[in-house]
Amino acid sequence: MTKLSTKHLLGIKEITADDINLILNTAESFKEVINRPIKKVPSLRDITIANLFFENSTRTKLSFELAERRLSADVVSFSAAASSVKKGETLIDTVNNILAMKVDLIVMRHPNPGAAVFLSKHVDAKIINAGDGAHEHPTQALLDAFSIKEKLGSIKGKKIAIVGDVLHSRVALSNIFCLQKLGAEVMVCGPTTLIPKYISHLGVKVEHNLRKALEWCDVANMLRIQLERQDIKFFPSLREYTMLYGLNKELLDSLSKKIIIMHPGPINRGVEITSDVADSDQSIILEQVENGVAVRMAVLFLLAGRA
Ligand code: CP
Repeated sequence: MTKLSTKHLLGIKEITADDINLILNTAESFKEVINRPIKKVPSLRDITIANLFFENSTRTKLSFELAERRLSADVVSFSAAASSVKKGETLIDTVNNILAMKVDLIVMRHPNPGAAVFLSKHVDAKIINAGDGAHEHPTQALLDAFSIKEKLGSIKGKKIAIVGDVLHSRVALSNIFCLQKLGAEVMVCGPTTLIPKYISHLGVKVEHNLRKALEWCDVANMLRIQLERQDIKFFPSLREYTMLYGLNKELLDSLSKKIIIMHPGPINRGVEITSDVADSDQSIILEQVENGVAVRMAVLFLLAGRA
């Protein structure tokens, strides 16, 4: 298989295991490219890409921009805070105005779940979802899968625990779909209030005891508590959350095996993970960020139909 089965990348739920494997295999070639002295290839030099960010981002925005530039695309970036959205312009009007400037592909982060799907039905461009509310973050799941495969050799049969604020996490949902499609076993761990009730219907294990989850898994993906999405209190205090669900070095070292530690970022040091764990030799947090550029290059290259 050399082509994706989809025109857009809206979520991992909609794509096949073959699509995922094609992206991961293509990303391996691009990882080699970005580690060369000259990190650029001419693959997308006739393509124009607009990055529309209606919500804050450091990693995803920079990673897409670097991926696009390393493929030689023309790139424009848009931040909602400094745009005419503030004057009342709608999403469709904003995007159609950008498309009138002959843009081929749109990368969009938006606070509303379903925003990327909505856009794909109303504008004539290829859309990549760079995170839509608490729904999906497909390129994060792909770079996480790439990083696990790179570290463990394969994903099939591996045990991955996703720990923390699953309720508000688009990373959790995309990771669950992606890892299951690749044959991994997935567990979610956190306080009852931060684990959505529907989650067991997705075929994941649910565990409320952090030590038990860590003893079970090969890889722990630690999630940030998303206070900005919480309009009520889901636990008594951050201090209590950290006591029960924070990963510290003492706990990590007391486990019966060496597990891999991941985090999508941004990290809240001292809350869900201590600095000595985040910076330890078991952590692959910065490898995840490096791999994000290669994986996004692969997604852009394949969606632009250059395979
Ligand atoms: N992991 C992630 O999406 O980080 P940003 O919000 O900084 O893009």
